[in-house]
Amino acid sequence: MNTLQNTAKTLLASGKGILAADESPSTNKKRFDKYGIPDTEDMRRKWRELLFTTPDIEKYLSGIILYEETLGQETDSGMLFPEFLAGRGIIPGIKVDQKTEAFGKDEEVTKGLDGLAERLSEYAHMGAQFTKWRAVIRIGEGTPSAECVAENARRMAEYARLSQQAGLVPIVEPEVLLDGNHSFARCEEVVANTLKVTFDAVHKAGVALDSLLLKTSMVLPGKESGEKRSPQEVAEATVRVLMAGVPKEVAGIVFLSGGQTPQEATERLNEIVKTAQAKSAPWPLTFSYSRALQDPVMAAWQGIEENTAKAQEVFKRRISETAAASRGEFSAE
Ligand code: 13P
Repeated sequence: MNTLQNTAKTLLASGKGILAADESPSTNKKRFDKYGIPDTEDMRRKWRELLFTTPDIEKYLSGIILYEETLGQETDSGMLFPEFLAGRGIIPGIKVDQKTEAFGKDEEVTKGLDGLAERLSEYAHMGAQFTKWRAVIRIGEGTPSAECVAENARRMAEYARLSQQAGLVPIVEPEVLLDGNHSFARCEEVVANTLKVTFDAVHKAGVALDSLLLKTSMVLPGKESGEKRSPQEVAEATVRVLMAGVPKEVAGIVFLSGGQTPQEATERLNEIVKTAQAKSAPWPLTFSYSRALQDPVMAAWQGIEENTAKAQEVFKRRISETAAASRGEFSAE
């Protein structure tokens, strides 16, 4: 097994998942604003310190995706975060895409290929072992267009190729947004097509599938659609599109939470894993959530030092429950 395959396998270790803690300062500001937490570099560092120093998280987390700023920050005790995480047995990763640019009338494509090879070698030097690139696919009137999906896929595949070349395991994340009033069936159609186009591009770019992770949305009705689907229905549709569109050689699949509540994200993951097991799906499946893991923790912390231990307890409970769901063993009691 080569180093890339080994990293991918370790990220997908049974009963563990990946925390996405890679919010840019501007996204992080939105989260902080909700609780009046000062938007400073040191408060962002303190927030990440709270998460990363929570006792026992290495039992449930195989990796954590960082933002560039965090890669160069230190714990209170003066250790660089990537070094600190690696010392706990948690693989540090890095988000490498850079915002989006307008595409056509009302769509967007993700940027970040300029100078990417140089940035990747710098990130590897700083201790990152895997990377993530997110593309945004919006369902609306006449969207997503074939051209937008194809351009996002082309860039994502090129990123994945460069990442592997730099010795870093890529996670391609074509996120189909939950926002909108589209139906459950329409979401399934868009996720299916997005996966097909993405893997066509990945294949064309010569990316090694056994050293690649897919980060995907679940198949869900649009947030404003009023349509309700059970975790079992979500699981059936999600596993169906994955089995149809994801090559069996892919190292593994991780889910984003995308604005679901923590409870929804956990229950649905649990059903998806059970359904995938029943259908003998070829890849490990787990979580790579940001909001569904972090939101209740920030609510408990609110930027107040004295709340740290309480917030860490909330975090530990959230990741242990979600890790149980990644084995199909979560129960609400
Ligand atoms: P959410 O779980 O909040 O969707 O975040 C996952 C992620 O990494 C988005 O890029």
